[in-house]
Amino acid sequence: MGGSAARRRLLAWYDENRRELPWRRREVEQDPYRVWVAEVMLVQTRVETVIPYYRRFLQRFPDVGSLAAAELDDVLKTWEGLGYYARARNLHKAAGIVAERYGGQLPRDGKSLNALPGIGDYIAAAILSIAFGESALAVDGNVRRVMSRLGDLADPSDGQIRELGAPLVGSVRPGDVNQALMDLGSTICTPRSPRCTDCPLQSTCLARAHGTQADRPARRRRSKRPHYEIAVGVIWRGDEILIAKRPAEGLLGGLWEFPGGKREPGESLEAAVVREVGEELGIEVETGTKIATVDHAYSHFKITMHAFHCRYRGGTPKPLGCQDYAWVRPAELDRYAFPAANRRVLERLPPNGG
Ligand code: ADE
Ligand code: SF4
Repeated sequence: MGGSAARRRLLAWYDENRRELPWRRREVEQDPYRVWVAEVMLVQTRVETVIPYYRRFLQRFPDVGSLAAAELDDVLKTWEGLGYYARARNLHKAAGIVAERYGGQLPRDGKSLNALPGIGDYIAAAILSIAFGESALAVDGNVRRVMSRLGDLADPSDGQIRELGAPLVGSVRPGDVNQALMDLGSTICTPRSPRCTDCPLQSTCLARAHGTQADRPARRRRSKRPHYEIAVGVIWRGDEILIAKRPAEGLLGGLWEFPGGKREPGESLEAAVVREVGEELGIEVETGTKIATVDHAYSHFKITMHAFHCRYRGGTPKPLGCQDYAWVRPAELDRYAFPAANRRVLERLPPNGG
């Protein structure tokens, strides 16, 4: 069975069944910047979630130059709610490098692309194939699953995946081949109950021949994510609230939040707020009524966030455990980028004063 026959069937299927998505254009040159932004947003994130963010982001930052010239705060604000904020920080940083070093044009080779912040093998291959028509297999979770099934392999190595993909992704429409595999993986060759009778690759699929689709690839047991209790304060001084900006690097870096942190063993939630606010900002507060309890899951842990109204008692705020702070009126909070759990606390605040 020739690779080109399978590729022909895959591309014919794609031409009939492809999902129309705002980052996909028919018969026009693909703008590498648009492909880049889309692929960064699509990492670990569903297509339906990405679409409105992608549209807004491109309106606001239509090209490398506008993104490079933007303030990180504005980029984070546009990204607010999409999660994995290091992606936005890296994209912004990389745009600066592309503007400066490459005259605003993404480089056309894998090595240079890979050297940019936030671009790894997957995004580099996606940009090379979709925007530049270069032959490169972009391996994400979907493609890995399809390849595992085509080759009937429980736990294929990167090399085996590339071997299986090589006959498909050659010099003929490599970007469409990659996107066809992505679409196939999310609409036909799904994790549970793949619809093999509708699959353009059914005649060459070893897992289908052996009836092993359900076990390909073998499921990895996910270790249980730890759970933390987080206590935060909505600290009032008159009709203003104190918010803190997280350190630039690390989880949720550069986003704003209500001051607080992890409860320690044996500590009450209220005591945790008072202690954490002291450590983070060097001020004294007194806790009042509870505002909300919010659950949120991150990729590697889960939290329950408990938010309390607090009264400001004294001390001048100093950014000890944060990069900045601000006293703001509730109506102004919308200008700042907050992580999802904080946003949900914020939605429960009275419009003016606690
Ligand atoms: N997931 C990652 N990249 C994608 C793309 N270009 N189209 C659809 N889903 C994707
Ligand atoms: Fe996936 Fe079934 Fe197609 Fe094989 S035949 S690639 S298991 S949908």
